[in-house]
Amino acid sequence: MKRILTGLQPSGELTIGSLIGGIGNIKKYEDKYESFIFVPDLHSITVDQDPKLLHERIRKNIALYLACGLDPKKNTFYIQSENLYHTNLSWILECNTYMGEASRMTQYKEKSENKKHHSVGLFTYPILMAADILLYDADFVPVGHDQKQHVELARDIAIRFNNKYDDTFTVPEPLIPEVGARIKDLQDPTKKMSKSSENPKGIIFLLDDLEVTRKKIMSAVTDSDNKVIYDEENKPGISNLLMIYSSMTNMSIKEAEEKFKDYNYGNFKKEVAEAIINVIKPIQDKYNEIINSNLIDELLDEGKKKTNEIAKEKYEIVRKKVGLGR
Ligand code: TYM
Repeated sequence: MKRILTGLQPSGELTIGSLIGGIGNIKKYEDKYESFIFVPDLHSITVDQDPKLLHERIRKNIALYLACGLDPKKNTFYIQSENLYHTNLSWILECNTYMGEASRMTQYKEKSENKKHHSVGLFTYPILMAADILLYDADFVPVGHDQKQHVELARDIAIRFNNKYDDTFTVPEPLIPEVGARIKDLQDPTKKMSKSSENPKGIIFLLDDLEVTRKKIMSAVTDSDNKVIYDEENKPGISNLLMIYSSMTNMSIKEAEEKFKDYNYGNFKKEVAEAIINVIKPIQDKYNEIINSNLIDELLDEGKKKTNEIAKEKYEIVRKKVGLGR
């Protein structure tokens, strides 16, 4: 059975962007592939984190995966920092990655731009991500559009390693959703809706109060021509709302355009808010039911054991090929 693997950082509260591009994208495959889902907590400390908040979010992150409907029997859940092979392999891969290719990562450029200081970890982050993927021979990596370049780097590293040391790693492929791979900020629809953005008005968090959600949609930035048409370039705000609506209802963008052709923006936004609430309300109910249950620790203990065994086997092969140790 082919494998999929993905992770969502606990660096902020999860958003509908993480739901659509991340979790929703996994759910589609859980019956078809063997699925590994982890919390990349080591990735989160590439930027400053409050340790207490980080700790809480790791648990929340797993609870939300489950609340979003991922089946605990069909997916293996684990925490990146509970498996030392990720960082060990990452070092070996760093030594097989060129400065030039790592420097081309657009997310690194964006995140380091205009910062007085940034960590070395922010630069090597995509290589740790490559280790996360290659350690398990993942065939497919479901991600949103912003992570595509990182998965491509993992592919390049795998191919180079396989050529140098003989076939070792499966070369992974990104799985990008057709709709919803790029959910934008509601207040600045030219930029990605990101859990770490400064203005919370632009972001719908999965655990937002439902009335707050409604208000955020009603005050989303649009344009003045009052036509509900998908046109990313000239109407980024309306296009983003259509994209969100379409992802929440599984209606195509074309069908949604048709449905809203005689609506004004106010009425259109009310329907978008309703569609989001219909999806996140049951998620919140389920989340509240399980956040304090033993289920989360049981799953994480199982996941830790299973993934450490798989990772150890792969790491030992790599170590030997590279000539390390006795
Ligand atoms: P992260 O935590 O930023 O995002 C998690 C997933 O959600 C997707 N996503 C979005 N999709 C559409 N629109 C948005 N506005 C949006 N925001 C986030 C992301 O593309 C991603 O799929 N480096 C990764 C975590 C990671 C990882 C891995 C993923 C570490 N190791 C190995 C896959 C495999 C990250 O920071 O994603």
